Amino acid sequence: MDYVNLGRTGLKVSRLCLGCMTYGSSKWRPWVLDEAESRPFYARAMEAGINFFDTADMYSLGESEAVTGRALRDLAGAGWRDGVVIATKLFHPMTERPNDRGLSRKHVLAAVDDSLRRLGTDYIDLYQIHRFDPHTPIEETLEALHDVVKAGKVRYLGASSMYAWQFMKMLSVSERNGWAGFVSMQPQYNLVYREEEREMLPLCLSEGVGVIPWSPLARGFLASDRRRPAGGENARGETTRSQTDPFADHLYYTDADFAVKEALNQLAEAKGLPPMRIALAWVLSKPVVTAPIVGASKLHHLDDAVAALEVKLTEDEIKALEDAYRSKPVLDHS
Ligand SMILES: NC(=O)c1ccc[n+]([C@@H]2O[C@H](COP(=O)([O-])OP(=O)(O)OC[C@H]3O[C@@H](n4cnc5c(N)ncnc54)[C@H](OP(=O)(O)O)[C@@H]3O)[C@@H](O)[C@H]2O)c1
Repeated sequence: MDYVNLGRTGLKVSRLCLGCMTYGSSKWRPWVLDEAESRPFYARAMEAGINFFDTADMYSLGESEAVTGRALRDLAGAGWRDGVVIATKLFHPMTERPNDRGLSRKHVLAAVDDSLRRLGTDYIDLYQIHRFDPHTPIEETLEALHDVVKAGKVRYLGASSMYAWQFMKMLSVSERNGWAGFVSMQPQYNLVYREEEREMLPLCLSEGVGVIPWSPLARGFLASDRRRPAGGENARGETTRSQTDPFADHLYYTDADFAVKEALNQLAEAKGLPPMRIALAWVLSKPVVTAPIVGASKLHHLDDAVAALEVKLTEDEIKALEDAYRSKPVLDHS
C-alpha cells in the first residue's frame, strides 16, 4: 500500500480509504451490514494496509461511527489510535429537533462530542462538514470548527460536496481570520459524475486541498451488473443494494451513464480485467485525487479495490472511457 500526504498536510493516508457507510445497522438501510457482518471488512482493510476510514454521524444514525470505533480499537490493539486515520462528518439531521443538524456553533460543539463518544476516541483525525449550510453564517461555522481543533478534539478539517464558490469563500474566511482551514474536499467523482472537473477539482489543485472522492464506483453502478428495469420488473441488479438504494436512481441510470458503462465493459474485456478495477483505476489516474473512498459489501470487493491500484491506463484508454460522458445537472450538493 502506498501512503500519500492529505493535501498540504503532513498526514499520511493510504491510497484507498474505506467507506464505512456500508457498516452500521440494517435498520437504517437494508443494504447496510450489521456489526458482526461488518467486522471482517475492517480486518481485511487493515491487512491490506488501509489506514484511512471514512464515516459520518448520520450513517445508521450514529451506529456506523460506533461500529467503526469498536472495530478499529479491537483489531489494531495497543496503540491503535496512532495507526489509523479516522474521518467523520456532521451536518445532516440526527433527530427531528431543529438544532440537531446544520453547522451552527451549537450543533458543531454538540456533534463533535457525540461523534467522539460513539467512536470511543478522544480525537477525530479529519472532521468534515457534510454539506454547506446556507442558514448559518460562514464565520460562525468556521470559528466553531477552529475551536474544536484548538480544543484538541480534531486534528484536521475537511468539507464535502458543495459549489466551488462556497468552498473558496470558506477557505478565504478561515485564512483571513487565522483559523484552521479545510485541508480536504470529499466530492462525488466517478466515470458517470464528472461535473466537479469544471470548478471544484481545479480549485483543489490550485489550493493544495486533498481530494477524497465519494462513490468512486457510482454506488455499484460501474462495478456490477446494474441494469435498466424492464417489463414491469423493478430490480436493477442481483444484490441487496442494487434493489434497495433508490438514491442511486436519482444520481445514475441515465442513457448516457449506460453508454459510459458500455465503454467501460468493452475496455475491461479487452484488458481481461473486471470493469470495477478499470473504473477505480480511472479515478486513481487523476493527479488531483488523494484517495478514493471505496464501498465494499463483500470481502472480495476490497481485494478488487487493492488490485485496482496496480492497473495503469494509457491516454487512449482514458479517452475511450471519457468520450461517452455527457454533462448532467449538479447533483447532491445540498
Ligand atoms: N460525502 C458524501 O456525501 C458521501 C456520499 C456517499 C458516500 N460517501 C462515502 O463514500 C463511501 C463509499 O460510497 P459507496 O459505497 O457509494 O461507494 P462505491 O465504491 O461507489 O460503491 C460501492 C458498491 O459498489 C459495489 N462493488 C464494490 N466493489 C465491487 C466489486 N469488486 N465487484 C462488484 N461490485 C462491487 C458494491 O455494490 P453491492 O453492495 O450492490 O454489491 C458496493 O456496495 C461511503 O461509505 C461513504 O464513506 C460520502
